[in-house]
Amino acid sequence: MTVPTITLNTGAEIPQLGLGTWPLDDAQVADAVEAAASLGYRHIDTATRYGNEAGVGEGIRRTGIPREQFFVTTKLDGEFQGDDKAIGGLEAALDRMGFDYVDLLLMHWPLPGRDLYVDTWRTFEKLHADGRARAIGVSNFRVEHLERLLAETDVVPAVNQIQLNPHVTRPAQREYGEAHGIVTESWSPLGGDGAGVLREPVVAQLAERVGRTPAQVVLRWHVQQGLVVIPKSANPDRMRDNLAIFDFALSAEDMDALATLSQGPDAGVDSNVSGH
Ligand code: A2P
Repeated sequence: MTVPTITLNTGAEIPQLGLGTWPLDDAQVADAVEAAASLGYRHIDTATRYGNEAGVGEGIRRTGIPREQFFVTTKLDGEFQGDDKAIGGLEAALDRMGFDYVDLLLMHWPLPGRDLYVDTWRTFEKLHADGRARAIGVSNFRVEHLERLLAETDVVPAVNQIQLNPHVTRPAQREYGEAHGIVTESWSPLGGDGAGVLREPVVAQLAERVGRTPAQVVLRWHVQQGLVVIPKSANPDRMRDNLAIFDFALSAEDMDALATLSQGPDAGVDSNVSGH
Protein backbone atom coordinates (compact mmCIF):
# COMPACT_ATOMS: atom_id res chain seq x y z
CA MET A 1 0.00 0.00 0.00
CA THR A 2 1.52 3.33 -1.04
CA VAL A 3 0.62 6.22 1.22
CA PRO A 4 -0.08 9.51 -0.60
CA THR A 5 1.87 12.55 0.50
CA ILE A 6 0.87 16.14 1.16
CA THR A 7 3.24 18.96 0.27
CA LEU A 8 4.22 21.15 3.21
CA ASN A 9 4.92 24.86 2.84
CA THR A 10 8.65 23.97 2.85
CA GLY A 11 8.16 21.87 -0.29
CA ALA A 12 8.74 18.64 1.67
CA GLU A 13 6.30 15.77 1.32
CA ILE A 14 4.63 14.37 4.45
CA PRO A 15 3.05 10.91 4.16
CA GLN A 16 -0.63 11.41 4.87
CA LEU A 17 -0.68 8.53 7.33
CA GLY A 18 1.91 7.85 10.01
CA LEU A 19 2.31 5.82 13.18
CA GLY A 20 1.39 7.48 16.47
CA THR A 21 3.57 6.24 19.33
CA TRP A 22 2.04 7.46 22.60
CA PRO A 23 2.09 5.78 25.18
CA LEU A 24 4.58 3.14 24.00
CA ASP A 25 7.91 2.87 25.82
CA ASP A 26 11.29 2.57 24.07
CA ALA A 27 11.20 -1.22 23.77
CA GLN A 28 7.58 -1.33 22.59
CA VAL A 29 8.06 1.49 20.12
CA ALA A 30 11.17 -0.06 18.57
CA ASP A 31 9.17 -3.23 17.86
CA ALA A 32 6.18 -1.21 16.65
CA VAL A 33 8.26 0.92 14.28
CA GLU A 34 9.96 -2.15 12.85
CA ALA A 35 6.61 -3.88 12.28
CA ALA A 36 5.03 -0.74 10.82
CA ALA A 37 7.93 -0.14 8.44
CA SER A 38 7.70 -3.68 7.13
CA LEU A 39 4.03 -2.97 6.29
CA GLY A 40 4.91 0.25 4.47
CA TYR A 41 4.74 3.00 7.12
CA ARG A 42 7.38 5.67 6.59
CA HIS A 43 6.07 8.38 8.91
CA ILE A 44 6.59 8.14 12.67
CA ASP A 45 5.30 10.62 15.25
CA THR A 46 6.99 10.92 18.64
CA ALA A 47 7.63 13.60 21.28
CA THR A 48 10.17 14.24 23.99
CA ARG A 49 7.28 14.01 26.47
CA TYR A 50 6.49 10.44 25.33
CA GLY A 51 9.91 9.25 26.55
CA ASN A 52 10.33 6.96 23.53
CA GLU A 53 12.52 8.87 21.06
CA ALA A 54 15.42 6.45 21.59
CA GLY A 55 13.13 3.55 20.70
CA VAL A 56 11.96 5.31 17.55
CA GLY A 57 15.55 5.74 16.41
CA GLU A 58 16.36 2.14 17.30
CA GLY A 59 13.30 0.83 15.43
CA ILE A 60 14.19 2.81 12.31
CA ARG A 61 17.79 1.58 12.37
CA ARG A 62 16.61 -2.01 12.78
CA THR A 63 14.59 -1.81 9.57
CA GLY A 64 17.76 -1.31 7.52
CA ILE A 65 15.84 1.26 5.47
CA PRO A 66 17.79 4.51 4.99
CA ARG A 67 16.89 7.25 7.47
CA GLU A 68 16.00 9.68 4.69
CA GLN A 69 13.16 7.46 3.53
CA PHE A 70 11.35 8.14 6.82
CA PHE A 71 9.47 11.22 7.90
CA VAL A 72 10.08 11.66 11.64
CA THR A 73 8.28 14.18 13.82
CA THR A 74 9.13 15.04 17.40
CA LYS A 75 7.76 17.69 19.76
CA LEU A 76 9.22 19.85 22.50
CA ASP A 77 7.06 20.53 25.53
CA GLY A 78 6.88 23.41 27.99
CA GLU A 79 10.25 22.70 29.57
CA PHE A 80 11.84 23.92 26.35
CA GLN A 81 9.98 27.20 25.95
CA GLY A 82 11.77 30.55 26.14
CA ASP A 83 15.46 31.50 26.31
CA ASP A 84 16.48 29.42 23.27
CA LYS A 85 15.91 26.30 25.38
CA ALA A 86 14.52 24.55 22.30
CA ILE A 87 18.05 24.37 20.87
CA GLY A 88 19.27 22.13 23.69
CA GLY A 89 15.93 20.34 23.62
CA LEU A 90 16.25 19.37 19.99
CA GLU A 91 19.94 18.48 20.35
CA ALA A 92 19.07 16.09 23.20
CA ALA A 93 16.18 14.61 21.22
CA LEU A 94 18.45 14.05 18.20
CA ASP A 95 21.05 12.40 20.46
CA ARG A 96 18.42 10.05 21.82
CA MET A 97 17.19 9.17 18.33
CA GLY A 98 20.68 8.93 16.87
CA PHE A 99 19.74 11.26 14.01
CA ASP A 100 21.16 14.55 12.83
CA TYR A 101 17.83 16.07 11.83
CA VAL A 102 14.07 15.68 12.24
CA ASP A 103 11.67 16.10 9.37
CA LEU A 104 9.25 18.05 11.54
CA LEU A 105 9.72 19.70 14.92
CA LEU A 106 6.53 20.72 16.72
CA MET A 107 5.92 22.96 19.71
CA HIS A 108 3.86 20.54 21.78
CA TRP A 109 1.52 23.11 23.37
CA PRO A 110 1.20 26.89 23.23
CA LEU A 111 0.83 27.18 27.03
CA PRO A 112 -0.60 30.69 26.56
CA GLY A 113 -0.53 31.40 30.31
CA ARG A 114 3.26 31.55 30.09
CA ASP A 115 3.22 33.69 26.96
CA LEU A 116 6.46 32.19 25.68
CA TYR A 117 5.27 30.57 22.48
CA VAL A 118 6.17 33.49 20.19
CA ASP A 119 9.65 33.67 21.67
CA THR A 120 10.00 29.88 21.38
CA TRP A 121 8.89 30.04 17.75
CA ARG A 122 11.84 32.36 16.99
CA THR A 123 14.12 29.65 18.36
CA PHE A 124 12.34 27.12 16.17
CA GLU A 125 13.06 29.40 13.20
CA LYS A 126 16.79 29.18 14.01
CA LEU A 127 16.59 25.37 14.18
CA HIS A 128 14.83 25.38 10.83
CA ALA A 129 17.41 27.72 9.29
CA ASP A 130 20.32 25.52 10.38
CA GLY A 131 18.65 22.40 8.93
CA ARG A 132 18.25 20.37 12.10
CA ALA A 133 14.48 20.79 11.83
CA ARG A 134 13.63 20.40 8.13
CA ALA A 135 10.17 21.77 8.88
CA ILE A 136 8.72 23.42 11.99
CA GLY A 137 5.17 23.46 13.24
CA VAL A 138 2.92 23.56 16.25
CA SER A 139 0.52 21.34 18.13
CA ASN A 140 -2.64 22.10 20.05
CA PHE A 141 -2.68 25.70 18.80
CA ARG A 142 -5.93 27.61 18.56
CA VAL A 143 -6.56 30.23 15.92
CA GLU A 144 -5.57 33.12 18.17
CA HIS A 145 -2.18 31.49 18.81
CA LEU A 146 -1.60 30.93 15.10
CA GLU A 147 -2.59 34.53 14.38
CA ARG A 148 0.07 35.82 16.74
CA LEU A 149 2.79 33.67 15.17
CA LEU A 150 1.86 34.89 11.70
CA ALA A 151 1.74 38.51 12.82
CA GLU A 152 4.94 38.56 14.88
CA THR A 153 7.33 36.05 13.27
CA ASP A 154 8.69 35.14 9.83
CA VAL A 155 8.10 31.42 9.23
CA VAL A 156 4.54 30.13 8.83
CA PRO A 157 4.10 26.82 10.71
CA ALA A 158 4.10 23.87 8.30
CA VAL A 159 1.66 21.89 10.45
CA ASN A 160 -0.79 22.29 13.32
CA GLN A 161 -1.31 18.90 14.99
CA ILE A 162 -4.56 18.90 16.94
CA GLN A 163 -7.03 16.54 18.55
CA LEU A 164 -9.50 15.84 15.76
CA ASN A 165 -11.95 13.03 15.07
CA PRO A 166 -15.62 12.73 14.04
CA HIS A 167 -16.69 13.74 17.56
CA VAL A 168 -14.39 16.80 17.65
CA THR A 169 -14.08 18.40 14.25
CA ARG A 170 -12.12 21.65 14.86
CA PRO A 171 -13.46 23.68 11.91
CA ALA A 172 -11.88 27.01 12.93
CA GLN A 173 -8.34 25.62 13.04
CA ARG A 174 -8.83 23.75 9.78
CA GLU A 175 -10.18 26.79 7.93
CA TYR A 176 -7.35 28.94 9.22
CA GLY A 177 -4.84 26.28 8.16
CA GLU A 178 -6.32 26.05 4.67
CA ALA A 179 -6.23 29.82 4.28
CA HIS A 180 -2.57 30.05 5.32
CA GLY A 181 -1.02 26.86 3.96
CA ILE A 182 -0.77 25.15 7.35
CA VAL A 183 -1.45 21.40 7.11
CA THR A 184 -3.78 20.10 9.82
CA GLU A 185 -2.73 16.84 11.38
CA SER A 186 -5.18 14.83 13.53
CA TRP A 187 -3.92 13.32 16.76
CA SER A 188 -5.95 10.50 18.27
CA PRO A 189 -7.74 10.24 14.90
CA LEU A 190 -9.68 7.19 16.12
CA GLY A 191 -10.76 9.03 19.24
CA GLY A 192 -8.26 7.28 21.50
CA ASP A 193 -9.23 4.89 24.25
CA GLY A 194 -12.75 5.14 25.53
CA ALA A 195 -14.01 7.99 23.32
CA GLY A 196 -16.28 5.55 21.58
CA VAL A 197 -15.91 6.82 18.01
CA LEU A 198 -15.27 3.28 16.76
CA ARG A 199 -18.35 2.04 18.62
CA GLU A 200 -20.72 4.61 17.11
CA PRO A 201 -23.59 2.80 15.34
CA VAL A 202 -23.22 5.14 12.35
CA VAL A 203 -19.60 4.05 11.97
CA ALA A 204 -20.40 0.38 12.48
CA GLN A 205 -23.22 0.46 9.92
CA LEU A 206 -21.09 2.27 7.35
CA ALA A 207 -18.23 -0.15 7.92
CA GLU A 208 -20.52 -3.07 7.36
CA ARG A 209 -21.93 -1.54 4.18
CA VAL A 210 -18.58 -0.67 2.58
CA GLY A 211 -16.95 -3.89 3.77
CA ARG A 212 -14.31 -2.16 5.85
CA THR A 213 -13.51 -1.97 9.57
CA PRO A 214 -14.76 0.91 11.75
CA ALA A 215 -11.17 2.18 12.06
CA GLN A 216 -10.76 2.23 8.28
CA VAL A 217 -13.97 4.21 7.88
CA VAL A 218 -12.85 6.79 10.44
CA LEU A 219 -9.34 7.12 9.01
CA ARG A 220 -10.77 7.41 5.51
CA TRP A 221 -13.01 10.25 6.79
CA HIS A 222 -9.81 12.10 7.79
CA VAL A 223 -7.73 11.56 4.68
CA GLN A 224 -10.61 12.31 2.35
CA GLN A 225 -10.70 15.79 3.89
CA GLY A 226 -6.99 16.35 3.32
CA LEU A 227 -6.00 15.76 6.94
CA VAL A 228 -2.82 13.93 7.98
CA VAL A 229 -3.48 11.10 10.46
CA ILE A 230 -1.26 9.32 12.96
CA PRO A 231 -3.24 6.41 14.47
CA LYS A 232 -1.39 4.65 17.24
CA SER A 233 -1.29 0.90 17.39
CA ALA A 234 1.19 -1.59 18.73
CA ASN A 235 -0.68 -4.40 17.02
CA PRO A 236 0.58 -5.26 13.49
CA ASP A 237 -2.86 -6.47 12.36
CA ARG A 238 -4.36 -3.12 13.28
CA MET A 239 -1.42 -1.27 11.72
CA ARG A 240 -2.14 -3.12 8.48
CA ASP A 241 -5.82 -2.32 8.78
CA ASN A 242 -5.10 1.35 9.38
CA LEU A 243 -2.84 1.58 6.33
CA ALA A 244 -5.35 0.03 3.94
CA ILE A 245 -7.52 3.11 3.46
CA PHE A 246 -6.30 4.42 0.13
CA ASP A 247 -8.17 1.99 -2.11
CA PHE A 248 -11.76 2.97 -1.35
CA ALA A 249 -13.78 6.15 -0.97
CA LEU A 250 -16.70 7.29 1.15
CA SER A 251 -19.59 8.88 -0.72
CA ALA A 252 -20.89 12.37 0.02
CA GLU A 253 -23.82 10.70 1.83
CA ASP A 254 -21.39 8.65 3.94
CA MET A 255 -19.48 11.81 4.86
CA ASP A 256 -22.77 13.51 5.77
CA ALA A 257 -23.70 10.57 8.00
CA LEU A 258 -20.35 10.86 9.79
CA ALA A 259 -20.82 14.62 10.17
CA THR A 260 -23.80 13.89 12.45
CA LEU A 261 -21.34 12.53 15.04
CA SER A 262 -19.87 15.94 15.82
CA GLN A 263 -20.33 16.82 19.48
CA GLY A 264 -19.17 20.39 18.85
CA PRO A 265 -16.20 22.07 17.21
CA ASP A 266 -13.93 21.73 20.24
CA ALA A 267 -15.92 19.26 22.35
CA GLY A 268 -13.85 17.76 25.12
CA VAL A 269 -10.68 19.64 24.18
CA ASP A 270 -8.83 20.95 27.21
CA SER A 271 -9.35 24.71 27.43
CA ASN A 272 -5.81 25.07 28.71
CA VAL A 273 -4.69 23.46 25.45
CA SER A 274 -2.86 20.67 27.17
CA GLY A 275 -3.28 17.45 25.17
CA HIS A 276 -1.15 14.37 25.61
P1 A2P B 1 -3.83 -0.85 20.14
O1 A2P B 1 -2.55 -0.13 20.30
O2 A2P B 1 -4.01 -1.93 21.15
O3 A2P B 1 -4.04 -1.35 18.73
P2 A2P B 1 -5.72 6.94 18.60
O4 A2P B 1 -4.53 6.87 17.71
O5 A2P B 1 -6.91 7.55 17.97
O6 A2P B 1 -5.41 7.55 19.95
O7 A2P B 1 -6.21 5.46 18.89
C1 A2P B 1 -5.37 4.58 19.52
C2 A2P B 1 -6.20 3.51 20.16
O8 A2P B 1 -6.98 2.83 19.17
C3 A2P B 1 -5.35 2.49 20.81
O9 A2P B 1 -6.03 2.05 21.97
C4 A2P B 1 -5.26 1.38 19.79
O10 A2P B 1 -5.08 0.15 20.44
C5 A2P B 1 -6.61 1.46 19.12
N1 A2P B 1 -6.57 1.11 17.71
C6 A2P B 1 -5.65 1.43 16.78
N2 A2P B 1 -5.96 0.93 15.58
C7 A2P B 1 -7.13 0.26 15.73
C8 A2P B 1 -7.96 -0.47 14.86
N3 A2P B 1 -7.65 -0.62 13.57
N4 A2P B 1 -9.10 -1.03 15.37
C9 A2P B 1 -9.41 -0.89 16.66
N5 A2P B 1 -8.67 -0.20 17.55
C10 A2P B 1 -7.54 0.37 17.09
